[in-house]
Amino acid sequence: MSDTNWGWSDRLKLQYEPMDETHQEFVMLCAALSEDNPDTFIARLDALIAHSVEHFEQEDQWMTSNAFPPAGCHMTEHDAVLQVMREVRRRIVDAGEMDLAARLAEELPLWFEHHVDTMDNMLARFMTSDAIAAAQPA
Ligand SMILES: [Fe+2]
Ligand SMILES: [Fe+2]
Repeated sequence: MSDTNWGWSDRLKLQYEPMDETHQEFVMLCAALSEDNPDTFIARLDALIAHSVEHFEQEDQWMTSNAFPPAGCHMTEHDAVLQVMREVRRRIVDAGEMDLAARLAEELPLWFEHHVDTMDNMLARFMTSDAIAAAQPA
């Protein structure tokens, strides 16, 4: 993505507050990857990975505790993108493949927008449906 101004916007809102808050944090950390400073890239990537572990665990827990039908597919996407982030980290640290930093910074926003539009959108609708919302603690 050549848009270096990528960031949070209403276009990404799913009208499920706990998820939207987490997604704002993801977007901030993900957008920070595009900063052109190789010295701090790994620290910025580590912050995104740490966030993503919690972000995905929260969604996985919503899905499993509410028997969300497409849970398996959604969790597989989470695992796959985390694996990519960790693999990029490993290749930069172990093999000095610094060109992967810019590629990850370009491709993750595209992945995230697609994930929000599909998987997270379905989950947000499910979590705000009457039956599930009534069962949530106040
Ligand atoms: Fe999400
Ligand atoms: Fe998700």
